[in-house]
Amino acid sequence: MLPTIEWAEDKVVMIDQRRLPAEEVYLECRDYENVAEAIEKMVIRGAPAIGVAAAFGVALGFLKVPSTADADKEFSRIYQRLKATRPTARNLFWALERMQRVYEKNRSLPLPALQKRLIEEALDMETEDVEINKKIGLYGKSLIKDGDAVLTHCNAGGLATAGWGTAVGVIRAAFEEGKKIQVFVDETRPFLQGARLTAWELSKLDIPYVLIADNMAGWLMQKKEISLAIVGADRIVRNGDAANKIGTYSVAVLAKENKIPFYVAAPLSTFDFSLTDGSRIPIEERPAQEVREISGRLITVPDAQVRNPAFDVTPARYISAIITERGIVNPPFKKNLGLLAKSNFG
Ligand code: MRU
Repeated sequence: MLPTIEWAEDKVVMIDQRRLPAEEVYLECRDYENVAEAIEKMVIRGAPAIGVAAAFGVALGFLKVPSTADADKEFSRIYQRLKATRPTARNLFWALERMQRVYEKNRSLPLPALQKRLIEEALDMETEDVEINKKIGLYGKSLIKDGDAVLTHCNAGGLATAGWGTAVGVIRAAFEEGKKIQVFVDETRPFLQGARLTAWELSKLDIPYVLIADNMAGWLMQKKEISLAIVGADRIVRNGDAANKIGTYSVAVLAKENKIPFYVAAPLSTFDFSLTDGSRIPIEERPAQEVREISGRLITVPDAQVRNPAFDVTPARYISAIITERGIVNPPFKKNLGLLAKSNFG
């Protein structure tokens, strides 16, 4: 399993994803503010990993609370700080809400017991995340045939989760079953999660891959060199519209034009049934510097005007199926996700 994040007694340790693949270094977070900054600066990123990091952040922050008298105020301060880190991934809010429910339910406990309970809950989330990813892999691998060439965008692998991965987890499950697969990895500008992280993961796993610049996918689809696309998601709403890394929408449109399936793999913690359609998903705008530079090196004029939306929304009509830990959801999504929402969603 790839090391994404770990609880270590009184600190949280995470691999610094900004420095991969050049260096494998680990960042130690000693309080919740360190965790919040790590999420903001993308030391840790990927929707499920952000969720687990936030849960660890709450547990870590609450460990420093001096007395029961300060507990409510401090819990709320920690919660609000972590909530403000990144706006798009539903998993962040899902994880914080789950920690809050545990807090509310146990707040009459003595402080050390309550602190311990919050740590346990965060550790459970980490364990469950890996189990959920593996289930997604088990369902999703049926969609990949021997000989397929699979395009993936961004990084939805072990690094984007507590381990294993969603979209990359599906690829991995199919590969481990013995299917011969060729993976195409979009480099995923501006932050290069594909080139830096997915390529790193696939090479560690010995899964054959080819790295391409983002603007090559359409041509390779037209030449029939890509037979399907699979990506993760940051937020999926009631009608099936899905937010994911910027550039995902372009991949989906190209897939439809070229008549190849486009799959989204995500856990239920990514779903937001409070929103009816994707136009309501908050899209994070990130610093201009990420576009002006590559790995800290300026690639344009220093004051170039920049837009940097970090995510886009793929309308449901471009999505062939959504793979969850409860199975594969096919269109029509409004109806079928509605059934999923009713079936003990939580
Ligand atoms: O900005 P990032 O790197 O956090 O964006 C990550 C993605 O868009 C992933 O595809 C998504 O979170 C799914 S991760 C299993």
